[in-house]
Amino acid sequence: MTQELAPIRRDHSPAVSSDWWRDAVIYQVYVRSFADSDGDGIGDLRGVRDRLPHLAGLGVDAVWLTPFYASPQADGGYDVADYRAVDPLFGVLADADDLVREAHRLGLRVIVDIVPNHTSDRHPWFRAALDGGPDAPERALYHFRPGRGPDGALPPNDWESVFGGPAWTRTGDGAWYLHLFAPEQPDLNWEQPAVREEFDSVFRFWLDLGVDGFRIDVAHGMVKAAGLPDIGLREQAKLIGAQVLPFFDQDGVHEIHRAWRRLLDGYDGQRIGVAEAWAPTAERLALYVRPDELHQAFNFQFLTCAWDAGAMRRVIDGSLAATGSVGAPTTWVLSNHDVVRHTTRYGGGERGLRRARAAALLTLALPGSAYLYQGEELGLPEVTELPDAVRQDPAFFRGDGQDGLRDGCRVPIPWSGTSPPYGFGPGGSWLPQPPAWAGLSVAAQTGDPRSTLELYRSALALRKELPGLGDGGALEWLAAPAGVLAFARPGVVCTLNTLDTEAELPVPGRPLLSSAALEFGGGTVRIPGAACVWWAV
Ligand code: NOJ
Repeated sequence: MTQELAPIRRDHSPAVSSDWWRDAVIYQVYVRSFADSDGDGIGDLRGVRDRLPHLAGLGVDAVWLTPFYASPQADGGYDVADYRAVDPLFGVLADADDLVREAHRLGLRVIVDIVPNHTSDRHPWFRAALDGGPDAPERALYHFRPGRGPDGALPPNDWESVFGGPAWTRTGDGAWYLHLFAPEQPDLNWEQPAVREEFDSVFRFWLDLGVDGFRIDVAHGMVKAAGLPDIGLREQAKLIGAQVLPFFDQDGVHEIHRAWRRLLDGYDGQRIGVAEAWAPTAERLALYVRPDELHQAFNFQFLTCAWDAGAMRRVIDGSLAATGSVGAPTTWVLSNHDVVRHTTRYGGGERGLRRARAAALLTLALPGSAYLYQGEELGLPEVTELPDAVRQDPAFFRGDGQDGLRDGCRVPIPWSGTSPPYGFGPGGSWLPQPPAWAGLSVAAQTGDPRSTLELYRSALALRKELPGLGDGGALEWLAAPAGVLAFARPGVVCTLNTLDTEAELPVPGRPLLSSAALEFGGGTVRIPGAACVWWAV
């Protein structure tokens, strides 16, 4: 299944700067929904390549591509059947190579997704495990167990799938296998050396092709507690990130990350690993970014924080202290392909958009690295009204409600034009785009100084110009009225009014950028509700 490609020399790498990842702004491309080059309504690698100038012009440093590998697409490509092949939906291996080279030519780094916790049920190992019957040696590569109860008809333990229902499925010969996600995503057994060797080889395959790093899916999941003990609680998905569960955030995962760090460090150009890890506390998350482990971990506590000045300040302080204790940068992230877009989370409509614009300036002023999710630079809201017939999130088919469904943040993004698919591609789009999106397209917002797109462009340009932003230098909290956050970075002050009403403060400096219009008078500035301002000091 592996596609052939001539060996690649990495003569196209961007100039190496020291620790580029410590303050990088990394843009998440959900490949299926970014840009479609061939008219099948599904985004692809050539589509991404052709739109790279948008990202270079936006001012981000790197692009993270969600999985584009050979996959039956039971979970949007997070069910991989061949880790070294590009799925025909997204192109061929030469397209990935071309994309990486073109990104590097434009000065953008490329991070790809790696899915080590589980494979697809169509992966050759799992096929062999099923087809070979109870004695197939490949069963050891997964977690096969006999059932409980007199005839083994009950699952081996009480673990639940993150997508709903039991985390076990019974095979035709009576054995059960573990899948923390969909049944089409059997969990690998990381105690097997063959599993470790295979992933080392997959890492090398993509590193040799020139990628700059990996976003590691379910980085907290590969190791399960010995004996697979019962939990004794229901609705376990709600406990993820709140407590250590026998299937997540086990101490044993850190040894795997250490081995990967050694492998990454063996390559030139500072290739990085970023953990998608759900840990109960900022301190436990920081363990993933100790100096000999991964470079970054997504800061989901920031993503899930309420729109509340006190709560935000606590999360910011807690995150900085925890990552600081291990010498790693903090990452700031507001949205991704698994959560409701933050414009909608913050209340939707005009108010949600005002808050989202302000949150963008807050995020980009904090010390560390920031992740942007495609379309947030356009202020896109969640699409809440999708017909059942078009939904693809496996949670929709396994769950019993609409909560937590992830198609609404994955609707293809609007580039231009007045009707769907808004320049997404020459055909349609795999999820319907709302009629109101004409005014939100890249073309419609370009050149309009009040647009969200131009706000992001200005913020990212300023962040590059001002050495005090990004990783450089400390954050010092300043006195501010209730509901307002004010902090200083070297040469810059950031003020965020979280209230819905205007806040009046002494003018902190020369205004650099504001997410809403300001009013000055008598030495004070009136910052409208839900707005953020950067000041030069
Ligand atoms: C996290 C990914 O972001 C999500 O989309 C996926 O469903 C799960 N991991 C399982 O791979």
